[in-house]
Amino acid sequence: MFSERSTVEHISISEQNSDQQVPALNTWPRLNDDAIERVISCLKSRQLSGSGLDIINEFEASVERWLGGGHVVSTNSGTSALMVALLALGIKPGDTVICPAYTWCATPHAALLIGAKPKFVAIDPATYNICPNALRQAMSSDVKAIMVVHMHGMCCDMDAISEVVREFSVPVVGDCAQAHGARYKGREVGLLSDVDCFSMQKSKHLSAGDGGYCVTKDPKLAQKIRDICNFGVETPKTNYRFDDVLRDGYEVFRECDQIGGMFRLNPLCAALAIDQLQELDSHIAGVQSVMNDLLTMADDLPFFKISRPISGSTHVWHKIRVGISEDAVAFTGLPMAEIRRQLRAALAESGIPTTLWTAPILPLQTGLAEWSGQTDWTVTPTHFAIESSFMVFDENFPLIAQDKDIARQQVAMLVSVWKQYFSETA
Ligand SMILES: Cc1ncc(COP(=O)(O)O)c(C=O)c1O
Repeated sequence: MFSERSTVEHISISEQNSDQQVPALNTWPRLNDDAIERVISCLKSRQLSGSGLDIINEFEASVERWLGGGHVVSTNSGTSALMVALLALGIKPGDTVICPAYTWCATPHAALLIGAKPKFVAIDPATYNICPNALRQAMSSDVKAIMVVHMHGMCCDMDAISEVVREFSVPVVGDCAQAHGARYKGREVGLLSDVDCFSMQKSKHLSAGDGGYCVTKDPKLAQKIRDICNFGVETPKTNYRFDDVLRDGYEVFRECDQIGGMFRLNPLCAALAIDQLQELDSHIAGVQSVMNDLLTMADDLPFFKISRPISGSTHVWHKIRVGISEDAVAFTGLPMAEIRRQLRAALAESGIPTTLWTAPILPLQTGLAEWSGQTDWTVTPTHFAIESSFMVFDENFPLIAQDKDIARQQVAMLVSVWKQYFSETA
């Protein structure tokens, strides 16, 4: 069975993508030969686990340069980045942590996994981001941290959030999993909160297959995060070696001085991410230029809702959620669920894949319902915002991965199907 030796076929990704006539499925992340070579040379180095590895340091330094500041500590996922951020900020079992009612379940899970309790807060239906007014109303002395999520690549209203933070003096953890490269009023996402946490899971704009990283401006906090990522054992960033220490008559070696775990980024993922980072800005600029066209066309589209970045900020369009305005129900005489179903079917027929991504909102999901609090979420604008919207160009078909002309054609098709649907469904 093991006698046949298989050889690794070297597939040039540029060759794979050479037929750009059809939209490419599963072509993210883009892999050039340099990226593949870097991964191979990491493999050959046998530096495949451990702390203080050159490739990890190189990756973290690249992100720091790209952000123009901050201390970066890489992790093995976005979920673990959130967990270690909360732990490093001193969140303890039983503490309450604010979390938006609409995000990926990893956000509240990170709190739950360290024994904290999520308290769900409404979103602003126009942006799908946490609503600052609802946040203020949810604040109490039990709340020990706020998790904000820059949904789909668009920044939260950080000025309004900062006002609440100033009043209640609690740390903020930014879930930036979907917002690599976004900026808020001239500031990079990554440098907006006490700790900003990113995911590099396959679909993300900066993709390493899996992985993540935390960014903080506080060097001591960065060190704490690094130690927690390495079993809670003190972990110098470079020159990683341990000495025996004599204490109270016995030798101490690799002592854990706080709770931690194995949350370090895999070096092969770091190798992949270094190359992805070099191309990231130009890929983001590409998707932004296509989406600017859609935003212009959206003005004339009936019952079409799409979030627009706060003035002076950017949206990087990791996900594209489009909403159907409530007036469509009276116009068509159909319930919202049926309009959505029909629109999605019409789009699918024209080759535009759609998904609900995650539904219903988190306090209504079985595994999280216990944390839904007093609110009847089924009658909230947060619930309606998600039940009357859906994702276009999702994970297997990210717009950022497409050739620009094809992406433009796809956007034009979306607009045309949408217009046609409402012209025929009156
Ligand atoms: C908003 C958000 N938060 C957290 C995560 C978790 O990241 P990961 O899959 O790397 O653990 C994701 C994506 O997976 C996400 O979309």
